[in-house]
Amino acid sequence: MNVRDQSGPLNSFDDWEDDVRARYPKENGVQIESADYRNFDEPARETVREFYRLNHVHQTLEFARAKRDDYNRLDRRRMGIWEAMEHLNTLIDDSDPDTDLSQIEHLLQTAESIRADGQPRWFVLTGLVHDLGKILCLWGEPQWAVVGDTFPLGCKFSEKVVYTELFAANADSSVPEYQTELGVYHRDAGLEHVTMSWGHDEYMYTVAKDYLPDEALYMIRYHSFYAAHQEGGYSYLMNQLDREMFAWVRKFSCYDLYSKTPERPSVKRLRPYYLDLIAEYFPAQICW
Ligand SMILES: [Fe+2]
Ligand SMILES: [Fe+2]
Repeated sequence: MNVRDQSGPLNSFDDWEDDVRARYPKENGVQIESADYRNFDEPARETVREFYRLNHVHQTLEFARAKRDDYNRLDRRRMGIWEAMEHLNTLIDDSDPDTDLSQIEHLLQTAESIRADGQPRWFVLTGLVHDLGKILCLWGEPQWAVVGDTFPLGCKFSEKVVYTELFAANADSSVPEYQTELGVYHRDAGLEHVTMSWGHDEYMYTVAKDYLPDEALYMIRYHSFYAAHQEGGYSYLMNQLDREMFAWVRKFSCYDLYSKTPERPSVKRLRPYYLDLIAEYFPAQICW
């Protein structure tokens, strides 16, 4: 099975991630303004827009709650972290093998760039596992319920979310209770109480939550919440702990977005190091 067989317009998850990099471009290590992000003449951009259209239409509070309750049971499978990485690789092998990195290579590049900066071991491990939630597509989830920017549900959609105008067709847009700034939440409620759109971030947080430190869990859970960690949106839903932890999420995002290089990491050479690191934090098998 590969992602092309799933219902979704993206050729690969890389299309979405390349698009995020186009939105937050960096030159000589410094983030710069994106001049032509909304250049729809590019065919790839049209595909991404269609992907977001589906995402913004179908991600409702009811949908996200149902998915979270279902996957919270973690009753799909038992497997180790490395096994999940290999599994993800075979599952998502639809990208161009000459130019695109595999999922395992993205995970290793992210982890290796964190390691090269001398960050703590748990941080390196977070780089390694952060996208494993993409195995959701194994259980038949469509692309729009696996990847894409994430956002809170049950409250007004912020203009800081990419393609915000596409939320007009979301059923929650006609529920008045969900369309005030705070919606069903209290001011400074804390993100822990906020239902986010469903995808690989929330799922991997659920899988990893008994094993990694809080900073790591924040990075995993909110790494696609660009409206908050890049645009500063939704601060009224955050408590003091969230604000402190988002410094880590922003730090992580730099490695996630900008560690991509054409040189392929050697999976064979790196495997022993990462098996040791995985064993420091995770049991041999965990529940998915
Ligand atoms: Fe991700
Ligand atoms: Fe990633």
